[in-house]
Amino acid sequence: TTVDLESGSYGLDGHPDFMRKEMAEQPEAVRRALRGRLDARFATAHLGGLDLDPMALRAVRRVKFLGCGSAYYAGQIGAGMVESLARIPADAEPASEFRYRNPVVDPDALYVAVSQSGETLDTLAAVQELRRKGGRVMGAVNVVGSAIARECGSGVFLHAGPEISVASTKAVTTMGVSFAMLALLLGRVRDLSSAAGTRIVGGLQALPDRIEAALELDAQVAEVAQRYAKSQHMFFLGRVSGWPVAREGAQKLKEVSYVHAEAYQSAELKHGPIALIDADMPSVVIVPNDDLVAKNLITMEQVKARGGPVIAVTAVDLPASAADVVIRVPDGEPELDPLVLGIPLQLLAYHTAAALGRDIDKPRNLAKSVTVE
Ligand code: G6P
Repeated sequence: TTVDLESGSYGLDGHPDFMRKEMAEQPEAVRRALRGRLDARFATAHLGGLDLDPMALRAVRRVKFLGCGSAYYAGQIGAGMVESLARIPADAEPASEFRYRNPVVDPDALYVAVSQSGETLDTLAAVQELRRKGGRVMGAVNVVGSAIARECGSGVFLHAGPEISVASTKAVTTMGVSFAMLALLLGRVRDLSSAAGTRIVGGLQALPDRIEAALELDAQVAEVAQRYAKSQHMFFLGRVSGWPVAREGAQKLKEVSYVHAEAYQSAELKHGPIALIDADMPSVVIVPNDDLVAKNLITMEQVKARGGPVIAVTAVDLPASAADVVIRVPDGEPELDPLVLGIPLQLLAYHTAAALGRDIDKPRNLAKSVTVE
């Protein structure tokens, strides 16, 4: 299969499908997204397309990410990074809802419209609503010259390269990388120390290799996928920075394998959904290297006590007895863990879909970009 793009012909290069190819391209995509943007001397990032000088950056009182589907979940990861590195209130909202609720547009906020294609109608309409009300909106877009990129006028291009698979992988990862740089920049014009900034710059520089190593979990994840592929339902559980990772993991599984997956905040489990847990309902528990590892161990205990299989996807060492399967991603700066923990979840969705014989690049009922209401 080849697809004609402006750059010429774009093929599978020996990969069985585009999802697999694009997952494999992630280290290179991240390198491209970082190129020329990290400043080791001043421990910050340069995002020239943002068009905001330090004074304007300092005046930002709030950050809101708007996007649809995976772009929304990536925005939620970004919001967590902005809050933790820059200490500015930040959140994410589905762009598809925004214009319908007569939103209060905050003139001191920075809005970020997130979109791989740059053509998603709901996201474009959110940008138009923002501009009509005088909101300041930047794009985080992959496709140069796309409608959202043009409408925003300023922003950051993802540089993920062409993404063909309906299920987004490398674009989501480069969204997270861009938001880490945005958070670093917003943090460094405020109180993020030079030492902390240096640590994040180093973490970003190491990220391509870390993702490369996470992709090497492929054989282990394929085995896990085969073991659980016949499940009717799966939970994806996470806390704080692990929660949007869980949401994106569940989204990916639904999209390509059609297995019903539901993401839940781990602490909310006991307030209702725990009733669903039995031996046929596996839970994927996301464990970043943060202050909540002990809490995540309790979540795993709670699931196991009800007979539910537990698959831990973790950035810290866990006792083998903590879960039925422990998928350990390589170490790095904890703030960037969400970007690395997402990789085995992509692989899990991919191999589950493969085990069930799905058409991975063309899932039923879905389109790569939705340009209608
Ligand atoms: C569609 C796709 C999703 C994607 C969403 C947003 O619904 O099926 O995979 O996440 O659009 O796309 P965008 O191009 O705006 O990132």
